Amino acid sequence: MTKPRIGIIISTTREGRFGERVARWVAEQAADRQDIETEIVDLRNYPLPFFDAVASPAYVPIDTPEARKWAGKIAELDGYIFITAEYNHSISGVLKNALDYLFAEPNRKPAAFVGYGAVGGARAVEQLRMIAIELDIVPLKKAVHVNMEPLVGMLREGKDFADYPYLAPTVETMLDELSWYADALKAGRLAADRDAA
Ligand SMILES: Cc1cc2nc3c(=O)[nH]c(=O)nc-3n(C[C@H](O)[C@H](O)[C@H](O)COP(=O)(O)O)c2cc1C
Repeated sequence: MTKPRIGIIISTTREGRFGERVARWVAEQAADRQDIETEIVDLRNYPLPFFDAVASPAYVPIDTPEARKWAGKIAELDGYIFITAEYNHSISGVLKNALDYLFAEPNRKPAAFVGYGAVGGARAVEQLRMIAIELDIVPLKKAVHVNMEPLVGMLREGKDFADYPYLAPTVETMLDELSWYADALKAGRLAADRDAA
């Protein structure tokens, strides 16, 4: 079985977003590992109109080039790390819209979460865990939360992640758990595919 391939999803798209810095920091740590491969999946590269299809993609595939590109990327990955801001105590609208375009592609795959905001994006992460369940994604416990002090330090005082050394070990713990589930679920999906063939 090949190494699980994990998408690090940047879920905000606005000019000057902080999410990109978080994603690059997580990607740097993940690059040192032998057990998983990662790639950044930036929602800026997957622009989607507001969902207005005649039915859920559960029933009717969304057959537009942009929807196929997004769903195809999610399908080829074995797991996800959602880098999530907190917008009004929830996830960004652009992420929710993108998730509404999916149905089968992320099923039985794990997701880990990196939140940032006043309370480490915790409220957005909790909501994202619930959304994940409906998409048959396996939401994981070990998350990373970048809270008010490091967020303000980096946005306004010229600091960087290295100035908050307690954060890096939480990324390793998250990646350890994600790697375990990504392997286990990939093996399970392959076995199920073999049984069905
Ligand atoms: C529309 C909007 C709503 C926000 N609501 C919250 C919030 O509910 N809780 C919070 O901690 N931060 C909130 N913030 C502040 C964000 O945590 C901060 O702007 C962060 O940098 C946003 O992520 P981004 O830079 O990747 O867009 C909000 C920001 C925006 C733009």
